[in-house]
Amino acid sequence: MSYGMDGKTVVVSGAAGGIGAAVARRFAAAGATLVLGDLNAVSLEVLAGELAALTTVHALAGDVSVPADCENLMAMAAADAGRLDVLVNTAGVWTEGPSDQITEEEWDMVLGVNLKGTFFCCRYAIPHLKKTEGCIINLSSDAGVVGTPETAVYTASKGGVSLLTKSLALELAPFQVRCVAVCPADVMTPMLEGQARDYGGGDPEAYFRRLLASYPQRSKARFITPEQVAELVFYLAGPAAAPITGALISIDYGTSAGYSYE
Ligand SMILES: NC(=O)c1ccc[n+]([C@@H]2O[C@H](COP(=O)([O-])OP(=O)(O)OC[C@H]3O[C@@H](n4cnc5c(N)ncnc54)[C@H](O)[C@@H]3O)[C@@H](O)[C@H]2O)c1
Repeated sequence: MSYGMDGKTVVVSGAAGGIGAAVARRFAAAGATLVLGDLNAVSLEVLAGELAALTTVHALAGDVSVPADCENLMAMAAADAGRLDVLVNTAGVWTEGPSDQITEEEWDMVLGVNLKGTFFCCRYAIPHLKKTEGCIINLSSDAGVVGTPETAVYTASKGGVSLLTKSLALELAPFQVRCVAVCPADVMTPMLEGQARDYGGGDPEAYFRRLLASYPQRSKARFITPEQVAELVFYLAGPAAAPITGALISIDYGTSAGYSYE
């Protein structure tokens, strides 16, 4: 089913990542033209090569924390694809740890990619989205809805993404441009694997078990798949989601719903 994606152009930042690649594949399967960005030029090239068999793909390596790179990505959509209908901001990085051990470098890096990068991709997409009455889907997080211990920097960045989404939705509503945030709990991607490797104290499986233990499903808890997130993003970008803007859409097995007791 095309869901109206034929002839549309979708920009995905962080496209070489777990969620970004799943999003790109979902839109490619629906016939959208893709403009893909990522810091990792090699993985981006591999993905673009894979999807070129399905649709027209443009790819540009760049760093979303550098506004000029965000501007270049949106300019590529306008120049090479001729239009920009959907922007999906998935580029992101993780850090965790006691706040009294966080460095200024970590703060600047995480806020620079997750919050500044998301904003400046939106900022440079807006003039093009106004022409197509398009939409923005930002990857926030359950950590952009509720707090968790030892994640102050990441939650600050995602809390910012959640509220900039709401403000942009109001600002852009008169232009028929929608802005929505998707808020997943733990998705099995290279980011989550990296968390377990870097912060799991040498036991990644124990790290995963600790995360799942906080889920309301208890012993039957499991991680979300990138494809499940991509399907939600795809729905939110389509015509059936026309009334949805300014919303934080949770996909988290209820982890942000409130307290859960055994
Ligand atoms: N995986 C999860 O559990 C989870 C949960 C909630 C929210 N999220 C959010 O979803 C988004 C995607 O996460 P993921 O799990 O796919 O992560 P991932 O690490 O698999 O992919 C992230 C991608 O972003 C790219 N990237 C990093 N810094 C960049 C920069 N400066 N410029 C351009 N690209 C850059 C990376 O190269 C990578 O390809 C992120 O914003 C993340 O915070 C992830």
